[in-house]
Amino acid sequence: MLIALLPGDGIGPEVIEQAVRVLDAVTGDALSFERGLVGGAAYKAVGHPLPPETLDLARRADAILFGAVGDPDCDALERHLRPEQAILGLRKELGLFANLRPARLFPELADASALRPEVAARIDLVIVRETNGDVYFGEKGMRTTADGLREGYDIMSYNEAEVARIARVGFETARARRGRLCSVDKANVLETSQLWRDVVIEVSRDYPDVTLNHMYVDNAAMQLVRDPGQFDVIVTGNLFGDILSDQASMCAGSIGMLPSATLNSRNQGLYEPIHGSAPDIAGQGKANPLATILSAAMMLRYSLGKAAEADRIEAAVAAALAAGARSPDLGGRISTAEMGDAVLAAL
Ligand code: NAD
Ligand code: IPM
Ligand code: MN
Repeated sequence: MLIALLPGDGIGPEVIEQAVRVLDAVTGDALSFERGLVGGAAYKAVGHPLPPETLDLARRADAILFGAVGDPDCDALERHLRPEQAILGLRKELGLFANLRPARLFPELADASALRPEVAARIDLVIVRETNGDVYFGEKGMRTTADGLREGYDIMSYNEAEVARIARVGFETARARRGRLCSVDKANVLETSQLWRDVVIEVSRDYPDVTLNHMYVDNAAMQLVRDPGQFDVIVTGNLFGDILSDQASMCAGSIGMLPSATLNSRNQGLYEPIHGSAPDIAGQGKANPLATILSAAMMLRYSLGKAAEADRIEAAVAAALAAGARSPDLGGRISTAEMGDAVLAAL
């Protein structure tokens, strides 16, 4: 099985390296890895954040393991050349529309959560985030108003087919868990969200066994820290899902803990931590690789049919945490590589 390895920028290569060590230990030589240039690293090497060779590799691969993109050196480039376009381009070109971001608290990390331990203990949810539409992909630009002011604009839109297909992923995910789906929108203000809510209700008729509720995104942000245990599955649009998942990560201990899978309708998947390239700690061995290691486990489970191996990795992460492995984001002092060592030792 061919895995496209796209390490990217900043801490991306550091966390990918640890995930590859863990995959090698668990799968032997069942996987072959082919590396591709992506993000700022690709721009600097060949002048484009998502070179055609990388896109071709991603299309050919059975699954994609992605680190992170983003480089402060590139923030002044024209938007289509910026590193972030690589992840947006991969999601769009491969039709990767369903981004699953599970957030649960490993019991050993109760002290790392930003919430009181008894509140944090209850977090076990999945955010199902749409990643092919919304304000991310609408018409955007800069213009000058009649008064001569600079004005930026980004069009937010969803059509009913886009909402229906992500709603189905939300209902299916809830059905396989505790049977509760919370759809998060801003239907009190946005037409995009009104359509979202209407379509989610229409799709819900096919899932009478799932309990659906709706929440405005501002309330959802508050509820997530008040009592995260109330959520089973959250389905939401691209922008709200981006924001709520970073927030959920801190309820679960650290942004360095949350993995993700982004799937298309052919069940091809891109697997990545939810965090970015963390330029503030890049190159210092301070990054927590567990989100990427857990993303590799999701890859084994969802794209490669290796559920037992995925279980082994997740159990090893829990055992490493139980043995006291703590990178700085978790309040400890050990390095990225030592976190990898701890998982390998537990395996
Ligand atoms: P970020 O997620 O990179 O970092 C936010 C904070 O969390 C930083 O203080 C960072 O040090 C910390 N952090 C992140 N991951 C960590 C880990 N594994 N271990 C320990 N600490 C960790 O977000 P940002 O600073 O807003 O963005 C930096 C760059 O990353 C930007 O260019 C942004 O566009 C990009 N980004 C890319 C992705 C992606 O590739 N999918 C996701 C988010 C942000
Ligand atoms: C993420 C990131 C990306 C997003 C950026 C880098 C385009 O924040 O994967 O969460 O907003 O989707
Ligand atoms: Mn994000």
